[in-house]
Amino acid sequence: MRRKVVAGNWKMNMTDPEAVELVKQLKESLRSFNEVELVVCPPFTSLYSTSKMLTDSNIGLGAQNLFWESSGAYTGEVSAEMLLSVGCKYVIIGHSERRQYFGEDNQSVNRKVKSAIAGGLTPIVCVGERLEQREAGKTEAVVEDHIRGAFEGLSGEQLRKLIVAYEPVWAIGTGKTATPEQANEVHLFIRELIKELYDADLSSRTRILYGGSVKPENVRSLIEQPELDGFLVGGASLKAESFAAIAREVENSTT
Ligand code: PGA
Repeated sequence: MRRKVVAGNWKMNMTDPEAVELVKQLKESLRSFNEVELVVCPPFTSLYSTSKMLTDSNIGLGAQNLFWESSGAYTGEVSAEMLLSVGCKYVIIGHSERRQYFGEDNQSVNRKVKSAIAGGLTPIVCVGERLEQREAGKTEAVVEDHIRGAFEGLSGEQLRKLIVAYEPVWAIGTGKTATPEQANEVHLFIRELIKELYDADLSSRTRILYGGSVKPENVRSLIEQPELDGFLVGGASLKAESFAAIAREVENSTT
């Protein structure tokens, strides 16, 4: 049985006081949830302050990126060890915005995944096709390339520690969601690929989240799909009310 996850990717939003206020509200509105695994990923600047608030809560803390080296002359970068030291348990890796604007590729994603796992963090590894790739019938080829690239050289033991997020780029921040069937189809494809690369047991254990314009109005039909194990939520994670509404649907779907 795969425990469902709802993770909020705040992206480059929220000053520190705003982040503290949002976490305060989230703690209150998510307090009674215990089936769904809850994660918030504020910007680096608020990891420390929010971490202190989340101690002993049912909400885990994640970062939005990391660098694979453990320390040294890498101006502007942050290591797994640093993230752990402020209480992070998760880290988003290879988000399409990082691939698009910051030159991340399969190789950097792979190094980041390895360093996150070695450091004891749970990577949330993002994969997904752009609109023109979908329209050209290349969705599976792109997703396969992202998965093979991210998993290169990972043992089954390492794979066990990560979460995959399928995020079609054309659905991110656009208001266009993949239909539940479209999402499920790609999730199933990823699961089959993991089976081929590893084995059936690992494939059935790996959690695969969907991301891309997830909101309270569309979450129910998505979570009904058998291969969806939760969500990576951007825009709707910036308000306690909408993030809690999404988490509630997922919590209810487990009972
Ligand atoms: P969105 O972002 O929910 O705003 O579409 C999702 C993501 O980029 O993780």
